Amino acid sequence: MCGIIGYLGKKDALPILEKGLERLDYRGYDSAGVSVLDGGSFNTVKKPGRMDNLKEALKQTSMPGSLGLGHTRWATHGEVNEVNAHPHWDCRQEIALVHNGIIENYRPLKEMLIKQGHVFVSETDTEVIAHLIESYYEGDLEQAVLKALPQLQGSYALMVASKKEPDKIIAARMLSPLILGIAKDGYYLASDATALVDEAALVIYLEDGEVAVIRKQGFEIKDFKGLIKSKTTSALSWSGPAVDKKGFAHFMLKEIYEQPEVIKKNIEIYTEKDTVDFSIDQRFFQDIDRITIVACGTAYHAGLLAEYMIEEIAGIPVTVDTSSEFRYRNFVPEAKTLFVCISQSGETADTLAGLRLAKEFGFKTLAMVNVENSTIAREADKVIYTNAGPEIGVASTKAYLSQIIVLQLLALKLTHLYRKQLPGFYYRYFTELKKIPLYLEKILAEAPVIESLAEELQKASNFLYLGRGINYPNALEGALKLKEISYIHAEGYAGGEMKHGPIALIDKELPVIAISPAGRVRDKMLSNMLEVKARQGKIVGIITEGDSDLMQACYKTIPVPFAEEHLSTMLVPLPLQLLAYYIAAKKGCDVDKPRNLAKSVTVE
Ligand code: G6P
Repeated sequence: MCGIIGYLGKKDALPILEKGLERLDYRGYDSAGVSVLDGGSFNTVKKPGRMDNLKEALKQTSMPGSLGLGHTRWATHGEVNEVNAHPHWDCRQEIALVHNGIIENYRPLKEMLIKQGHVFVSETDTEVIAHLIESYYEGDLEQAVLKALPQLQGSYALMVASKKEPDKIIAARMLSPLILGIAKDGYYLASDATALVDEAALVIYLEDGEVAVIRKQGFEIKDFKGLIKSKTTSALSWSGPAVDKKGFAHFMLKEIYEQPEVIKKNIEIYTEKDTVDFSIDQRFFQDIDRITIVACGTAYHAGLLAEYMIEEIAGIPVTVDTSSEFRYRNFVPEAKTLFVCISQSGETADTLAGLRLAKEFGFKTLAMVNVENSTIAREADKVIYTNAGPEIGVASTKAYLSQIIVLQLLALKLTHLYRKQLPGFYYRYFTELKKIPLYLEKILAEAPVIESLAEELQKASNFLYLGRGINYPNALEGALKLKEISYIHAEGYAGGEMKHGPIALIDKELPVIAISPAGRVRDKMLSNMLEVKARQGKIVGIITEGDSDLMQACYKTIPVPFAEEHLSTMLVPLPLQLLAYYIAAKKGCDVDKPRNLAKSVTVE
């Protein structure tokens, strides 16, 4: 979950580390630190808190040098303070190290090293790696790292430098992402591509069990035995402006506004004359009896939506699990299963583990991923990119919508292969689908109305989100959005289940966000809403414009244009995102970097 960056080249390292850490701090922002090697000694500055604290401290100091390591932390072992911030050191402060991941056997290693006389200063698991390397160091950093790595259990992407070998960085990967960027001025290492945008045109994605040995005049990729491996380079397709706020107050708001474009782009890329083309051989989608979808967080909610879509129109049974449950429950594999994992980052540890398990079961595996060439994208049999572009706000918005559109298209693709539909079905579906970007623009134009509603509701301490049928997962997602960025407790519930518990919460203080666009369950939702109203509940309805019955049941409404039920799933998230955003912003919360969260969850 932490972000790590390294540089060795012709330029001054510090500005590169600062820029890289600013781009990586969505991975964790409990503390940040940098070390730069200047001739024979390291200069180090570490600060707890956000990157701004480190930047402020760096203003007071000069740190020349063209080798540097940087880290932004999501605390796992040890509280958030300067001592626990990375880089970490060996006893003599000769070896500097940054690490993302968790060393699961750090306790026995630490005890062993203490017995050998090593002195630890931090509570972190990471510090054992620096001391372990020190214990093997005999003048060759690479050899010392190669001896230390087999003793580490857990996950790691790490970068190490020694002041005795000032022209070298050694980096290694096991179950945590690591990328080498190749530029004219030198070499960049980072935990993800976002940090390398505009810096390195070519990148190499390290795999588990690989070590990068970087020198100013060249690099080698080796396995843990030290044998050289040949690797291919890839071009980075994202460009700089995409990771800027473009005048919006927050990345989240900018990303909310990008959604019409994201939908358009996916329609353009994957559809042709009312058919879906993922550029994947047709045979891959044939001979499937069941689909198993695995994902975390927001992506899991997209998976739940897909269950409704695929079962209804394609008629193929679907099961959906959170990745962390899938990997540890005794899932009963069935032949002819298509495994689909959904992940914005393509690096989520539990989803990756789920994918590897699915491969052990012998399933065909399909990844739906936003970040190109991420680990999940590389390891799945086939990948469908969701084309949302870089998503920086920790709370997912445009990535969610991109997952929904691509899953809709997958449902259509499977329908085409597995079920006969009435004449005109595809023509009607695609005609309506193409209107979605326009409808989203219409909802965005109503943002000021949602903002003033947020003003009214921001003081509530609990929210209930209700939805039914295909929009039930959107109720879960709406509640997740609100709680993660505003810290207000919110619960998503199926409208029909309300009588089995949550109705006890209803009073005139509790805002109930009732998702009820036109569709098969609209009348059922109306009954649920009237039950809330009868108990003086404060209903905010997300309804189809002009639905006067529902308007009467509600305290306030946010209308969305009419769309066929399946397609309404792409309209409903937008008002929910805007409501959560404005409430959080008005409460003064750090919308893009909510407390305790990280965007890319690369540890279990
Ligand atoms: C974190 C993020 C969420 C995301 C989830 C899964 O919790 O904050 O926005 O939905 O991880 O991440 P993935 O990258 O696999 O979609």
